[in-house]
Amino acid sequence: MKNVKVLWAIIILLLGLSGFLVNKFISGEVTPNEDGRTNVVLTKDERNLILDEMRAFLVSVQNISQAITEKDMDKVVTLAHKAGMAAEAGTPGSLLQKIPLRMKKMGFGVRGQFDEISASAKETKDPAVARKQLDNLMNTCIACHAIYRLPEPQ
Ligand code: HEC
Repeated sequence: MKNVKVLWAIIILLLGLSGFLVNKFISGEVTPNEDGRTNVVLTKDERNLILDEMRAFLVSVQNISQAITEKDMDKVVTLAHKAGMAAEAGTPGSLLQKIPLRMKKMGFGVRGQFDEISASAKETKDPAVARKQLDNLMNTCIACHAIYRLPEPQ
C-alpha cells in the first residue's frame, strides 16, 4: 500500500515537472515591457548574439535587394541561401529554450523565407518574383519587432 502511494507521488511529481517544461518551451523567459511589448530575458552574451544576427539580417536584406535591382540572380541565390536555415546551425539550444515558441516560429520563418528566395531565384531567375518574396519576408521582421524586446541585462 505504501509503495503505491510512493509511486503515485512520483507520477504526480513527474507530471508536474513535464508540464512545467512544456510550459517553459511555449512561453520562454519573458516579462511584460512598459511599451506594451514582451521582454525576452537573455544573458548579455545571448542578447549580443541575437542582435549580431539581427544586424546580419539587415545586411542580407540590403545585399539581396541590391542584387535584385541589378538583376544578378546568381548572387541572389547565394546571398539568400547564406541567410537561410544554413545560418541557424550555430544557435545554442540553451538560448532557443528561453525564446517563446511564437518568436521561434517567426525566427525560423524568416530563415525559411530566405531559403525560398534562394530556391525560386535558382528556378525562375525572375527578379520580380524575388522582389515580391523579399517584400513579404520583411513583413516578418516587422511583425516580430512589434511584439518582442530584448532588454539589456541589469
Ligand atoms: C523572431 C523575431 C525577430 C525577427 C523575425 C526579426 N527580428 Fe530583428 N530584432 C528582434 C528583437 C526582439 C530585437 C530587439 C528589439 C528591442 O529590444 O527593441 C531586434 C533587433 C533588430 C535590430 C537592432 C540590432 C541592434 O544591434 O540593436 C535590427 C537591425 C534588426 N532587428 C533587423 C531585423 C531584420 C532586417 C529582420 C528581418 C530580415 C529582423 N530583424 C527579423 C526580433 C526579430
